Amino acid sequence: MGLFTYDPGFMSTASCKSAITYIDGEKGVLLYRGYPIDQLAEKCTFLEVAYLLMNGELGDKHEQAQFEHEIGQHAMLHEAMRGFIDGFHYDAHPMAMMVGIVGSLSAFYHSELNMDDPEHRRISAMRMLAKMPVIAAACYRHSIGYPYVYPRSDLSYCENFLNMMFSLPSQKYIDKDNYIDPVAVKALNLLFILHADHEQNASTSTVRLASSTGANPYACIAAGIAALWGPAHGGANEAVLSMLGEIGTVDRIPEYIEKAKDKNDPFRLMGFGHRVYKNFDPRATIIRKACYEVLERTSAKDPMFDLALALEEYALKDEYFIEKKLYPNVDFYSGIIYKALNIPVDMFTVMFTIARTAGWVSHWLEMMAEPGQRIGRPRQIYTGKDVRNV
Ligand code: CMC
Repeated sequence: MGLFTYDPGFMSTASCKSAITYIDGEKGVLLYRGYPIDQLAEKCTFLEVAYLLMNGELGDKHEQAQFEHEIGQHAMLHEAMRGFIDGFHYDAHPMAMMVGIVGSLSAFYHSELNMDDPEHRRISAMRMLAKMPVIAAACYRHSIGYPYVYPRSDLSYCENFLNMMFSLPSQKYIDKDNYIDPVAVKALNLLFILHADHEQNASTSTVRLASSTGANPYACIAAGIAALWGPAHGGANEAVLSMLGEIGTVDRIPEYIEKAKDKNDPFRLMGFGHRVYKNFDPRATIIRKACYEVLERTSAKDPMFDLALALEEYALKDEYFIEKKLYPNVDFYSGIIYKALNIPVDMFTVMFTIARTAGWVSHWLEMMAEPGQRIGRPRQIYTGKDVRNV
């Protein structure tokens, strides 16, 4: 039997080389292609950042316009997919629908796909980025029994998403002149940028491992969505809101802090802690600030935000959280903004999915372009029986 390094959770194993995202967990640094996350969040749209992640450089005006035009061209879903979406029970979790529907894209796009051709790979990546918000909105509309709304080529990526989610009959974001709230669009761009990539997190690693077999890329992204769904990963934003709802009032915070510290209690403070960040998560700092802006400008004062601020303050003074270097992560505050934008709680992880698609496809493109790719194949430490006879 072989002797291998035992590294459960990949605490100290680099699984690949990548030029996309850099993280310094001690200093709270996050760079996409060398650009600090706070600068990108302030100055770019999500699609500009997606272009950067996929291509390595920010696009010039012409390149960006071409990119966005192409995204618009790929946004439509095959009409046959409606039947597929309609097959889900109305109370299916939207992440379950996302796994199935994105996986089904592999049945629509396979025969013409030559994985050795960089242009074919690029088009597959563009298709996924373009269709993800359309699928997400369709899942939501299905869950509430509303008719699907087609993507519009005259709207930006985030405007389109809000329109597909909320236009008639609810009209939450569109006034009588068909105007989409710029505060919501700005907030969405910001959240999508912050969630766009995060080097070899569980879902990206899943996409890479699945892709290393040469499998259909749409199926590989569906695998990534499945990994993202878990509460230790992308599902944390939904779990934070449930937790805040359960805590309810500031006076109950100490009780929940004690629960989180109790090793006999499985409860963890959701939205706290990170494998890589050990001082602060730079994304959480940006989101906390955005919460103030969004809540103020949408005049949607939310007691949950005050509760979250109080919880953060309380936890950061507690010896347990200080000693273990547990700080609020990106998902501690993202749900509060989504809630202010009227995104339903069970759609929060779907929002993360739309954003992270930019990262997944960038990693897929990077990996597929590498010469001499090998299948990902970890070994194990065998703990079973010695050889024996039947
Ligand atoms: N509440 C209470 N204790 C915690 C928490 C928490 N949120 N997070 C970690 N700990 C404790 C944990 O019990 C362990 O204690 P001990 O050393 O005594 O056994 C220690 O801190 C180290 O935790 P770990 O689970 O070994 O750390 P990890 O790097 O494997 O896990 C994590 C990181 C994010 C999964 C974990 O901190 C966690 O479960 N947090 C809550 C869920 C969450 O917010 N997830 C979103 C992550 S950011 C977005 C994303 O990547 O998708």
